[in-house]
Amino acid sequence: MKDLLLDAQKNKYAVGSFSIANMEMVRGVLQAVEETKSPAILQIAEVRLNHSPLEIIGPLMVAAAKNSAMPVAVHFDHGKTKEKICQALEIGFTSVMFDGSGYPFPENKKLSAEILAEARKHGAALECEIGCVGGSEDGSEDIAMNCSDPAQAVEFCDEVAMDALAVAIGNAHGNYKEEPKLRFDILEKIRDSVAVPLVLHGGTGISENDFRKCVELGICKINIATATFDSVEREVREAYTAGAINGYYDLQTAETRGAYKNAMKHIKIFGCAGKA
Ligand code: 13P
Repeated sequence: MKDLLLDAQKNKYAVGSFSIANMEMVRGVLQAVEETKSPAILQIAEVRLNHSPLEIIGPLMVAAAKNSAMPVAVHFDHGKTKEKICQALEIGFTSVMFDGSGYPFPENKKLSAEILAEARKHGAALECEIGCVGGSEDGSEDIAMNCSDPAQAVEFCDEVAMDALAVAIGNAHGNYKEEPKLRFDILEKIRDSVAVPLVLHGGTGISENDFRKCVELGICKINIATATFDSVEREVREAYTAGAINGYYDLQTAETRGAYKNAMKHIKIFGCAGKA
């Protein structure tokens, strides 16, 4: 992931980091990635493992990335426990996120440094978070958004040699209840103060213009989860309504197509098409 993000930073585009839950979504995303000749990241968050156990979905993701002709990283999103983060590293994930946003800042730094040591044992990259992105990855908690403090971002990056930093600038996970108002001023300050590639979580529901502005202001990785799940569900529902599903494999095809369409849409906005 580190190499993908450094290239994105240098050439001013963002790599899509797509959350997946099953093989159909992995294949849909990779089909879009291959057609557009894009780099990409496949990710799954720790809170999703009840539905997609890491020991099953993890090797599938790694195998799919290795089999792709495009540069595809495999990322463990919102790692909360050392146990699961280390399991992902053992399986071959190329990067992990340690989400210490729920801890006081000194604790977030200390725990992030411990996870960095684990990631480095496997030659993997580390993403950290500063401030707190709103909502929660699976919608189970209504976590309050807390914008990142640029001064803390500097201190964090000085003390922990992370490879990517997730910022909180008014973004939130899940579908936005009202139109997001992103704090581009904070993003710009952070971009001007630290060298590390920046990450935007909560991509679902952010407008095309805001995505482009974020990329201009230093965002190199954009996480998309809910939009993929919604697109898959919508595609399946429409296929049923149209009478296009006659048996399981039509259902599977519709699922894959839902993930493909959503990935295509975002890849074009993020400017990563043709960058593989
Ligand atoms: P969305 O569900 O809002 O797309 O957020 C994705 C995300 O940030 C995963 O970490």
